[in-house]
Amino acid sequence: MSQKAPRQFFKPLAAGAPEPMRDLPVRLERMIHFVPPHLDKVRAKVPAMADSADVILGNLEDAIPADAKAAARAGVIEMAGMIDWQARGTGFWSRVNPLNSPWFQDDVSDLVLKAGHQLDVLMIPKVEGPWDIHFVDQYVAQLEAKAGLSRPILLHAILETAEGVARVEEIALASPRMQGISLGPADLAASRKMKTTRVGGGHPSYRVIEDPREDGGPRASAQQDPWHYTVAKMVDACGMAGIKPFYGPFGDIADLEACEQQFRNTFLLGCVGTWTLHPSQIAVAKTVFSPDPEEVRFARRVLAAIPDGAGVAMLDGKMQDDATWKQAKVICDLADQVAARDPDLAAAYAG
Ligand code: GLV
Ligand code: MG
Repeated sequence: MSQKAPRQFFKPLAAGAPEPMRDLPVRLERMIHFVPPHLDKVRAKVPAMADSADVILGNLEDAIPADAKAAARAGVIEMAGMIDWQARGTGFWSRVNPLNSPWFQDDVSDLVLKAGHQLDVLMIPKVEGPWDIHFVDQYVAQLEAKAGLSRPILLHAILETAEGVARVEEIALASPRMQGISLGPADLAASRKMKTTRVGGGHPSYRVIEDPREDGGPRASAQQDPWHYTVAKMVDACGMAGIKPFYGPFGDIADLEACEQQFRNTFLLGCVGTWTLHPSQIAVAKTVFSPDPEEVRFARRVLAAIPDGAGVAMLDGKMQDDATWKQAKVICDLADQVAARDPDLAAAYAG
């Protein structure tokens, strides 16, 4: 038997470390906005960004040059003290370097010891199996005890290796510290030897085509979503484990239309949020990952039509029953969470 006994699962992994959380904190995490923490000019904008994004993440991994890794780490620690993250209600995360890198150990120990009170989540890249999570889990527990933290720091895995995708369920279940999983389409494409040079989104050659037409006319053809399988697999693994699935980066910053479509496909499949790499993507993520006011109004009517959640009703010619009540509840619960943080949307949902 390789699984921990249920009674052991919620015991701290180090003497003096906080108890693991039984439920995830209720937080709106529609976008995780990536900040390069070594750049003074960008860091100075963090307090303003914390008002527009649900989560701010100080990135230490890819895109940060090797000679800036130490400055980036110091930058995240400085960011921790720039505002009162808890009071502001904005998530404060960091993406550390991978476990096999020369920076991982110092990244995690510096962040937990010097910024642990502010830090909500550590994002761990290139997770290949539950053993990676177990190692980080134990290491973070020791550091939490040393730092005297009372609130556990959660872990978020990036799904970006073929091995990780094959083991996504085990990763999702590896620890009560797991908060969620993001798709990492760039590294995953490389790991799987997909023939693309893009970061997320579709590909003009990945498409379906209509059968030959009798009139010999041009055949209809449309691009398909190459990420559909992985996102759906990740959503199921996260749903099973009671943690949150996220889309990751969309690299074509200029193409906000394609960005919106990629975000929307993952929202419809069950993801709760996405990464944003540029301020212009924050507004896109906000639109996509907040439910549509029209849909919220309809969902509220479904709940009202079946007040105790069981039975059947017809609304505008559409059959409603216990299952559609549950679907409507997902939308209404999300709308309530969004309304609590976003006055504009609160008004739209109330109308
Ligand atoms: C993100 O880290 C990715 O590799 O897409
Ligand atoms: Mg990556």
